[in-house]
Amino acid sequence: MVTINVVVVGAGYVGLVTGLCFAKLGHSVACVDVDESKIKALRQGQVPFYEPGLVELLGEQVQEGRISFHTTFPEPTDAAMAVVAVGTPPTPTGSADLTSVFMAVDGLARALPHGAVVAIKSTVPVGTASKLKERLAAQGRPDLRVASVPEFLREGQAIQDVFRPYRMIFGVMDEATEQMLRTVHEGLDAPVVVTDTATAEMIKYASNAFLATKISFINEIANICDRVGADVTQVAYGMGLDPRIGPSYLRAGLGYGGSCFPKDTRALVNIAGEAGYDFQLLRAVVEVNQRQRLEPVRRLKESFGTLAGRVITLLGVAFKPGTDDVRESPAIDLYVALMAEGAVVRMCDPVVRRVRGWISGASKILDVCNDPYLVLAGADAAVVVTEWPEFVALDWRRVARFMRCPVVFDGRNVLKPDEMKMAGVVLLSVGRGCRSPIPLR
Ligand code: UDX
Repeated sequence: MVTINVVVVGAGYVGLVTGLCFAKLGHSVACVDVDESKIKALRQGQVPFYEPGLVELLGEQVQEGRISFHTTFPEPTDAAMAVVAVGTPPTPTGSADLTSVFMAVDGLARALPHGAVVAIKSTVPVGTASKLKERLAAQGRPDLRVASVPEFLREGQAIQDVFRPYRMIFGVMDEATEQMLRTVHEGLDAPVVVTDTATAEMIKYASNAFLATKISFINEIANICDRVGADVTQVAYGMGLDPRIGPSYLRAGLGYGGSCFPKDTRALVNIAGEAGYDFQLLRAVVEVNQRQRLEPVRRLKESFGTLAGRVITLLGVAFKPGTDDVRESPAIDLYVALMAEGAVVRMCDPVVRRVRGWISGASKILDVCNDPYLVLAGADAAVVVTEWPEFVALDWRRVARFMRCPVVFDGRNVLKPDEMKMAGVVLLSVGRGCRSPIPLR
């Protein structure tokens, strides 16, 4: 195998995971980030976020001497390839802010040797790679090659997603770039799609938008199931056995959150709009998702009449289990909406300690408890927002005894209706037709 010197710009989630995995494949990786405290922590073997297996991989690769961390580019560098994995946060209009991408590319223009490949992993609007190529040429670096190599990492299983990807997309402008990408990814067994850069950029958006569409679709089916007395979990199972549909991303619940789906769906609506096309279907997907996360407020209000003064415990703050990421988590919107109804809201999560929320127009830090029994004591209702196994495994019989009203809204359909009934819990769920009246005490 050939060892390639790789510079990774951005030591955030995607950059760090990608850099470490390239190191593990045997390449020599220099990771650059402007955030000094992050680089300092990484040099000491600390990962600034929670991702299973990453601390161990970091320790191993630092020990092997295959990865190093820097706050500035080693200028000039001998890297034959650079990976740009900086953030592209949404602007107020929902399109991607490319400031960090431009800064990274300008830095690389000064640092990279002749003919090196600049692989863009940040999710960027379709056409960005071509614009970056022009930008490099304008800076006297027409020799640098630009590629679009989108990532499809899922938080909580990112390492596995790098080593066993479903596919690898190489968006390139020439054969030499394709060859370099094949060399750097040698050892990974997955279908490779080689295409132009605009198509690669679109594959990323279209994939995320499609998965988000499946989720909003099943959530709408769930809402109908509730009204007609069908069970959405079985509907999804029955649908998913058809290989043309597939079983994944058909779990009904409180909708999608996280750093990708919400941002990328809105960005694609914008990309389409700027190209003169109204992406109606995706606009509806976004709207359904926004409405779905507030479903517990609607349903609990329906049962209690008013939520004013009611103590409601949110079980789960991370946008999904296996991560401490709270970006676009339904929990935050739910907190704000329940507070607006006059409820007293408590939050619990096994890994999240605090979270920032906008309450009455001001940004506030909200405390999160890690003991579910503590926050459930005396509560009028609980909402399972994140399907952490810890919540499924609670002693619900005990919980039912010390809640003021044993009402649980299972926002992820992970609790078993029979067991909950035996435990004395009144269970509300998403699309499982459980519309039992609530015993108000
Ligand atoms: C996603 C994509 O899967 C990944 O390929 C891309 O690179 C980044 O965005 P991630 O955000 O880590 O990854 O989470 P994922 O596991 O895909 O779940 C996204 C959201 O959808 C979560 O909020 C999850 O709770 C929700 N979801 C997922 C459902 O509501 N129902 C499902 O059936 C599946």
